[in-house]
Amino acid sequence: MEIIVRKGKMKEFREILEILQATPSALHGMPEEQELMSMESFVRGSLTDPKMNLVLVAERCKEIVGCLFAELWVKKGFSFLSMIAVLPQWKGKGIGEMLYSGFEEYCRKIKGTKALVWLVGTENKAMAKFCRKIKAVRGKRFYYYEKEL
Ligand SMILES: CC(C)(COP(=O)(O)OP(=O)(O)OC[C@H]1O[C@@H](n2cnc3c(N)ncnc32)[C@H](O)[C@@H]1OP(=O)(O)O)[C@@H](O)C(=O)NCCC(=O)NCCS
Repeated sequence: MEIIVRKGKMKEFREILEILQATPSALHGMPEEQELMSMESFVRGSLTDPKMNLVLVAERCKEIVGCLFAELWVKKGFSFLSMIAVLPQWKGKGIGEMLYSGFEEYCRKIKGTKALVWLVGTENKAMAKFCRKIKAVRGKRFYYYEKEL
């Protein structure tokens, strides 16, 4: 199975969006319609601002089977992994790890980047195990707050 990890392109917008739609844990419990709209602008916004955003895709036989979104907070010395998702039928084959490695490699080349950070839903056991596998340390210093607008 040959998988290529590369940057995503604007013309692949629909295909990338479909991957996020196919992964229920990407929905974060919001009403589906509302989430769908914000997801569209999230994908579009990330693809149109490559200076601040990294979008990686995993491609197999010209089909996109996984994607990763990150915000590059270059001046602050860290990058934020906003989303990683693999199509259900391609999970468990090392594609998530390949995407993550691509992200880490990319950030290691950005001078001054000291850490990669992200949030994981407390119910997301697969992602929690994934994080242990890539040797990420679970933080203890912060609570997550949110205020709906
Ligand atoms: C989390 C996710 C990206 C992992 O991608 P993947 O390609 O399936 O993961 P990999 O095959 O690279 O697995 C790497 C490691 O992660 C862990 N892992 C992955 N899927 C797992 C599962 N379902 N249950 C437990 N551990 C799992 C394992 O430790 C695995 O290593 P191992 O097989 O040697 O034990 C994928 O499950 C996914 O798309 N989930 C839905 C979206 C999501 O929740 N994203 C995270 C929120 S930002």
